[in-house]
Amino acid sequence: MKIRAAVLEQFGQPLNVTEVDLAEPRAGEVLVRLRACGVCHTDMYTASGADPSGYAPTVLGHEGAGIVEKTGEGVTSVSPGDLVVTLFSPQCRECEHCRSPKTNLCLAIREQQNLGHLPDGTTRLSRDGDSIRHFMGTSTFADYTVMPEIALAKVSPEAEPDHACLFACGLSTGLGAAINTAKVEAGSTCVVFGAGMVGLGAVAGCRLQQAGRIICVDLSEDRLELARGQGATDTWIGGPDIVERVLEETRGFGADYTFEATGLVQVMRQAVESARMGWGLCTIAGVAGKGETLDVVPRYLITGRRVCGSSFGGVKGRDQVPELVQLYLDGKVDVDPFISHRIALDEVNRGFELMERQDGIRSVIAFD
Ligand SMILES: NC(=O)c1ccc[n+]([C@@H]2O[C@H](COP(=O)([O-])OP(=O)(O)OC[C@H]3O[C@@H](n4cnc5c(N)ncnc54)[C@H](O)[C@@H]3O)[C@@H](O)[C@H]2O)c1
Ligand SMILES: [Zn+2]
Ligand SMILES: [Zn+2]
Repeated sequence: MKIRAAVLEQFGQPLNVTEVDLAEPRAGEVLVRLRACGVCHTDMYTASGADPSGYAPTVLGHEGAGIVEKTGEGVTSVSPGDLVVTLFSPQCRECEHCRSPKTNLCLAIREQQNLGHLPDGTTRLSRDGDSIRHFMGTSTFADYTVMPEIALAKVSPEAEPDHACLFACGLSTGLGAAINTAKVEAGSTCVVFGAGMVGLGAVAGCRLQQAGRIICVDLSEDRLELARGQGATDTWIGGPDIVERVLEETRGFGADYTFEATGLVQVMRQAVESARMGWGLCTIAGVAGKGETLDVVPRYLITGRRVCGSSFGGVKGRDQVPELVQLYLDGKVDVDPFISHRIALDEVNRGFELMERQDGIRSVIAFD
């Protein structure tokens, strides 16, 4: 079928919204009609050419929510009409990692996904007979996409697609970092560095875990205001003396849990050093630039601080994304403030511009 899609033709160039061909779903695959899709930094990062593993041409987009249109042979977990959230981090439920409660990093289709292929090593996207690769296994900047069944989370039909799509990436990452990865304990003191989609999700996750004090640190007053709305008890403007301030306000010990959601290695270091002596846990969710490293003085670790990373918030997508979406439906996570702009697919490049200007948290592409 012919679809409209935002194609990354060349790194550093605006996306080209144009007509491409999408083939029928094969065994284990699903045709999804997109209803909404968030515009995320990872899309822009890849479009810029800064990501060494990027490829072109490809259809970008990975924060999608849509309706199942048609299923390929053997697909049993979703049916036409279901509302689904797309998962760049799939869950096959069978591999060694899926069977372990310790990780969400499914091994099933990693290699082919990293190459921009569907699991059988081919693409369903093409133009004039030349294949176009699938980005992150999702390619949701398009009115339709074909995805593996194991990369779709079936969520409540009551969810609004433009709200549900945020659970495809940043929001689940932040919520999950607090709930799954750190497993924040009730009454504890938390510090969240960064109040973008990920950091705000972490603030909400700390609140849901009943943290006693939630300090959010960012450079933007507007974003700190949003953090208060998600449950931050204290909001501070970031800077070089933040670690000192955390220590001062915690009787010299540091915070029980710290979260890094900026992607800046110097802030990651602050997050490590703000964690409490004895048991403080620093969870890193930000993605640093190519080749950057994190400096940690080993003494911080010997004296009981721990550092861990969190990909997609440790969320096992097919099982847990529906639960996280339910939190929003139950009124426990306020998603409205995150949807800053609604744009059409044709305006996707404007979505990038808004993001560059840090105008709002998310631009969401609405289809139809
Ligand atoms: N781990 C994952 O699976 C995953 C998923 C999605 C995004 N990410 C990464 O998480 C990070 C955050 O994503 P986002 O969408 O929230 O980004 P964002 O750019 O919207 O938010 C980052 C925030 O950090 C703030 N900041 C900058 N310097 C600071 C400082 N010195 N102190 C405190 N705050 C500072 C900015 O003002 C901004 O509000 C990015 O690196 C992104 O690539 C990771
Ligand atoms: Zn994303
Ligand atoms: Zn798996």
